Amino acid sequence: MASLGVNIDHIANVRQARRTVEPDPVPMALLAELGGADGITVHLREDRRHIQDRDVELLRQTVRSRLNLEMASTAEMEAIALRIKPDMVTLVPERREEVTTEGGLNVSAQLEALSSMVGTLQAASIPVSLFVDPDPEQLKASQATGARWVELHTGAYAEARWDRQAVELARLTQATAHARALGLRVNAGHGLTYQNVEPIAAIEGMEELNIGHTIVTRALAVGLQNAVSEMRRLIENPRRDPLFGRLN
Ligand code: PXP
Repeated sequence: MASLGVNIDHIANVRQARRTVEPDPVPMALLAELGGADGITVHLREDRRHIQDRDVELLRQTVRSRLNLEMASTAEMEAIALRIKPDMVTLVPERREEVTTEGGLNVSAQLEALSSMVGTLQAASIPVSLFVDPDPEQLKASQATGARWVELHTGAYAEARWDRQAVELARLTQATAHARALGLRVNAGHGLTYQNVEPIAAIEGMEELNIGHTIVTRALAVGLQNAVSEMRRLIENPRRDPLFGRLN
């Protein structure tokens, strides 16, 4: 059975929309673990648009499952990873203008630089995964870097119209078998939802699925009614002596 890595970036997105302290992704990670997450994933982007350095530091201290740090292959991020020591680093391509990670890494085009970073991180006992499209050339190049894992990009499958979905699923199934034959371990993620996750979870040899947006979306759907009811109750029956005023 594939394990579940919960990506909590979008919780931080809501906080950063107001530059305030809530919602805090750190206690939310604990709730994700209570719900059955096998790991917590965060993407520390170079522009810090959602997850902040402080989040990664606190999550390292509080996450009891596995902490997977997604990051670009830059010197700044390498130094952070070496200091924080996450349980896994997933290297992803990053462009400032993009809304989310758009494609897999072009590993063959940056073989030397990626091999060097993989070597440094793995020498520090941090296993490295490379986020790649389900493409034989990229899998071969990933193996050449010495990385122990790949994360297959499921975006094309997730975005495919119904009549292309089987083709994209077959690519992911073949890529998983190919990667394993090369000695790589296999995760997958991006764009997975409650509607499309099952065929991916059923792929033989798939170890972990990293899922974020759809879970945070679902949390809003199942939680909003309660949240409104709680506010309604406070307004209907306000205490005259709220806790905040006691010291005055
Ligand atoms: N895996 C990687 C490498 C990602 O960049 C992302 C998005 O941050 C995910 C998984 C999760 O994607 P989603 O939020 O669409 O579930």
